[in-house]
Formats: sequence, C-alpha cells, structure tokens
Amino acid sequence: MRAVSFLTAVTLVIGAVASPIYRRANVSNVQCTDPNTTLDSHTTNVAILAICGGIAGTIEKCQGAPTNTTGQSGDVRFTLTPTVAGATINISKGRWEQGVKAAFAQCGQDKPFTAVIQGGASSGDVAVKLEQV
Ligand SMILES: *[C@@H]1O[C@H](CO)[C@@H](O)[C@H](O)[C@H]1NC(C)=O
Ligand SMILES: *[C@@H]1O[C@H](CO)[C@@H](O)[C@H](O)[C@H]1NC(C)=O
Ligand SMILES: *[C@@H]1O[C@H](CO)[C@@H](O)[C@H](O)[C@H]1NC(C)=O
Ligand SMILES: *[C@@H]1O[C@H](CO)[C@@H](O)[C@H](O)[C@H]1NC(C)=O
Repeated sequence: MRAVSFLTAVTLVIGAVASPIYRRANVSNVQCTDPNTTLDSHTTNVAILAICGGIAGTIEKCQGAPTNTTGQSGDVRFTLTPTVAGATINISKGRWEQGVKAAFAQCGQDKPFTAVIQGGASSGDVAVKLEQV
C-alpha cells in the first residue's frame, strides 16, 4: 500500500514537472536527416550560441532582426529561416534552446535534423536545419 502510493506520488510529480517542459519546446515537422552522424557535443553547444551573430552571456534573444541566420562552429552548422517569407527572426534564447533540445529528444542528442520551432519570428515560425558541414 505504502509503496503504491509512493509510486503514484512520484509519477504525479514527474508528470507535473515534465509536461510543461515538453509543451514549452513546441517543435513540429522534426526530421532526423543523418541518423548515423553524432556531432561533437561541445562544438554543437558553441554553434547553438552562435546564431544571430552570437547570443552568449546576457543576450536573451536574437539581435538585429535578420531574415535568416546561421550559427556555426567547426563542422557544425545551424541555419534558421522564417517560415513566412520576409519575416524577421527574433527568437528568444529560451525558445531556441528548448526547440533544439526537443529535436534532439526525437533524433538523438547532437544528431542532425530539420524542424520548425513555433514562433520566434515577426510572423510565423522558424525553420531550423542542423547539419555537419
Ligand atoms: C504550441 O503549439 C500549439 C499548436 O500550434 C499552439 O497552440 C501553442 O500556443 C504553442 N505553445 C507555445 C508555448 O508556443
Ligand atoms: C547507417 O548505418 C547503418 C549501419 O552501418 C547502415 O546500414 C545504414 O545504411 C546507414 N544509414 C545511412 C542513412 O547512412
Ligand atoms: C539572408 O540574410 C542575408 C543577410 O541579411 C541576406 O542578404 C539574404 O538575402 C538572406 N537570404 C534569404 C534567403 O533571405
Ligand atoms: C518577436 O516579434 C513578435 C511580433 O512582433 C512579438 O510578438 C514577439 O514578442 C517577439 N519575440 C521576442 C522574443 O521579442
């Protein structure tokens, strides 16, 4: 009896913690484009912070309203393009990092993908490609 209620409590806690994170990520159209390749984890993290001319440190969103942007480090490259032509990218760091995390959750950590992150632009969403170059 005690064990059952303990497990129930644990399940409820995990559910309460996990579901908001999952919802916040909000990616769609995830395609794992190169399942046999695993990119270097550190290089990938540097590339994540290299979009929009750099979003490291205290910068909390994409600067400069670009119509497209890449984040590259070594052989790792992210390319971001708005899904609406002519829209500008203003994605927040949190939305960006959560989106990448959600794609990795589907494809495997540090594996190339294409996906669409909800929002993050002046209109529409942001299409993302991660590739080895
Ligand atoms: C997630 O996507 C759904 C469906 O497009 C949308 O209704 C919802 O507002 C989005 N949530 C966030 C936090 O962006
Ligand atoms: C991935 O590797 C497996 C095993 O070596 C191979 O059979 C498969 O064709 C490879 N897939 C791609 C897309 O290269
Ligand atoms: C990408 O951005 C560059 C620099 O802002 C711009 O010159 C180019 O036209 C853009 N390409 C597309 C497809 O929007
Ligand atoms: C990006 O621009 C849209 C449309 O102007 C706005 O609703 C949204 O709050 C902006 N996002 C950020 C992170 O500034």
